[in-house]
Amino acid sequence: MQLLDGVLVSAHIKEQIKQEVTDWQAQGGKKPHLAAILVGNNPASEAYVGSKVKHCDELGFDSTLLRFPADITEAQLIAEVVRLNNDDNIDGILVQLPLPDHISGDSVINAINPAKDVDGFHPISVGKMVLGQPTFLPATPYGIMLMLEYYQINTAGMNCVVIGRSNIVGTPMTLLMSRNTNPGNATVTMAHSKTKNLKELCLNADIIVAAIGRPKYVTADMVKPGAIVIDVGINRIPDATKKSGSRLVGDVDFDGVAPLCSYITPVPGGVGLMTICGLMKNTLLAAKLRTNAVRGAALAQSN
Ligand code: GUN
Repeated sequence: MQLLDGVLVSAHIKEQIKQEVTDWQAQGGKKPHLAAILVGNNPASEAYVGSKVKHCDELGFDSTLLRFPADITEAQLIAEVVRLNNDDNIDGILVQLPLPDHISGDSVINAINPAKDVDGFHPISVGKMVLGQPTFLPATPYGIMLMLEYYQINTAGMNCVVIGRSNIVGTPMTLLMSRNTNPGNATVTMAHSKTKNLKELCLNADIIVAAIGRPKYVTADMVKPGAIVIDVGINRIPDATKKSGSRLVGDVDFDGVAPLCSYITPVPGGVGLMTICGLMKNTLLAAKLRTNAVRGAALAQSN
């Protein structure tokens, strides 16, 4: 069994990003600038956004964190997004999900300028992804693909089971794994809460991506010897032996499953770190594309 080590791979990718930012600035480009919107004070969202902002600092990006109370209205939030769309200083906009129940996440995401949609959640970004056109890929599936690429895992022809059908992970992951790319070219089954024969499907899988949000849901009796297991879950469970009284576990029962696998991601230290890499790569790309579009327009005017 080999660990797919998010600490190692993310450190490598972050070095590449830092170098790319330095080169970009040497060519007269400005620092990429990410704006993150956080509504309310969900502790998990606070932690994720805090980590994203910290990474901006580490990689030489600018960041702006906008915090709003949980009772902000949908119209007010959309007005903030529009303000960021129109702010030429901002390259990428991220609205941390989930939003409070009275706000439609779809309406807020639809308001983001697709050129700044570094989460890859806007319908235009999703549509381009489906068609295989260049676009911002959702950060978690993008990060998983980067990890498979780093370990040079050839997934062509593999049976892949993605458990979960969320817009953030399950649906885009299913798509990316089935595209004619490397990694990719897998035969993918998207399983969900109504799937009847999950255990059978998993036992036939060469690669399992668990993104259901249930602690230790994937157990050893569901995993074929030699399978690759990617654990997207980040669940906090009580643990009296810890000072905090809790600890993080994934959607996979790591201790039971790991000995069976050819490769497995740990939690923490696996996919979570790769998500940040995906987001940062998207933000740098957004900054470059926006600047090049402005430069191109200026060139066209001068001709
Ligand atoms: N909530 C959980 N994952 C994500 C993510 O990748 N982006 C945003 N914006 N919200 C999330």
